[in-house]
Amino acid sequence: MSASQLALLGGETIGAPPADRHPNFREETYDRVLEIMRAGGTVGLNKTTPIIGEAERAIAEWQGVPHCLLASSGHAALHDCVIGLEVSWGDEVIATPFTWGASVSCILHNNAIPVFVDVCPETGLMDPAQIEAAITPRTKAILPVHIFGQAANMTAIREIADRNGLVVIEDGSQAHGSIHAGRKVGTFGDAAGFSCMGGKLLASAEAGYMVTPHEDVYWKASLCAQHMGRSSEPGFPHERFGGYVDSLVYTYRLSPLIAVMLAEQVKKIDAENAGRRESVRLFRQRMAGVRIVRFPEYPEGDDPVYHMLTMNFDAGFAGVSKQTFFSAMQAEGIGCFQYIPSPITTWRRLHWQTYDGPKVMWAEPLRQSGIDYREVRVPNCERKIAQSVEMGWNYIEPSEEKMARLASAFAKVEENLPALREWEAEQARS
Ligand SMILES: Cc1ncc(COP(=O)(O)O)c(C=O)c1O
Repeated sequence: MSASQLALLGGETIGAPPADRHPNFREETYDRVLEIMRAGGTVGLNKTTPIIGEAERAIAEWQGVPHCLLASSGHAALHDCVIGLEVSWGDEVIATPFTWGASVSCILHNNAIPVFVDVCPETGLMDPAQIEAAITPRTKAILPVHIFGQAANMTAIREIADRNGLVVIEDGSQAHGSIHAGRKVGTFGDAAGFSCMGGKLLASAEAGYMVTPHEDVYWKASLCAQHMGRSSEPGFPHERFGGYVDSLVYTYRLSPLIAVMLAEQVKKIDAENAGRRESVRLFRQRMAGVRIVRFPEYPEGDDPVYHMLTMNFDAGFAGVSKQTFFSAMQAEGIGCFQYIPSPITTWRRLHWQTYDGPKVMWAEPLRQSGIDYREVRVPNCERKIAQSVEMGWNYIEPSEEKMARLASAFAKVEENLPALREWEAEQARS
């Protein structure tokens, strides 16, 4: 048996180089979590609880944005943005069909209407060139997503928003520390929401945060989606909102038990991001001669971060389907997958005309707006989905040896394409 024979065809498996543990926590974090538990300090309603204040200030400083509001999830943080910017009934929000559903459900959950525009086919990022045609007198906001840690073109999106009097909400849930035009994502929007669940770059247990340059957005979100105890935080504008402090709220507050994880994790995220980036650099170096997948190219001044790595499968070159390629990689022990199953425009829970599932709150606003997502065409999104290949990327400690092993699996599959084509044809016949 040849050493280079595909594992799928009975050869030896290359085996995935072991990834680093993620999330991982430093000893100090364990100590501080236990300290809070021992002290019975698991309740914290606002910044006057020291750990809530510490975490919100630390994240605001790291993000470079004046105000941070902790939240119980990424979805909650994005909903905070929508609430704080008063995007609601009758408003349309320009959205992307290539994302995790919470980038869209946060709009629906405030009775506003997502209007989808197409994406760039290599990155899956919102294509600024598509935005202006989608603007109507009802458009209030644009909500780009920094998917896979790549930064959307915030320069162009901000310019379009400013020219049309719109606000911008960034979804940075997969992109803590990603750089566009020399600046961190989260600094371009009127508000930005980030997820900090355990799989994300700033990982805790379950959490999120909103950052915003606008103090009033911070207080509006606090008023509507935190405990009413936020009103005793210094600076609360009693003269404006004092009459509206009550418990008719979404409960999106975060326990100090998790806030302390964030305060600690933010101290090491830059080092971890640097390690992930260096691992990608080493991997790409080793992949220089490989043609079966291509890497998206990024503009000068952009520096993505990686909790997943996205690539594009070249089906024309390969002469086999992406599924067959996945099977070959899986047999080699390498987990490649397609993260986004289909454009969100095709998801049945948005098709109020035909929907017969469990009742959803957005069916009526969508019906009243008359929007028909079944008619929306997003060919570049379909193209990205067809070619998209993702890998989990918890390679935090750079290793030449690991990256060489990973790249060798791609090279091996590529060298064996004739055999793989035969295997695929045989599968089709049987
Ligand atoms: C792009 C994006 N937006 C929003 C979210 C929602 O975050 P959470 O699961 O913390 O609510 C996620 C989480 O996977 C995400 O990837």
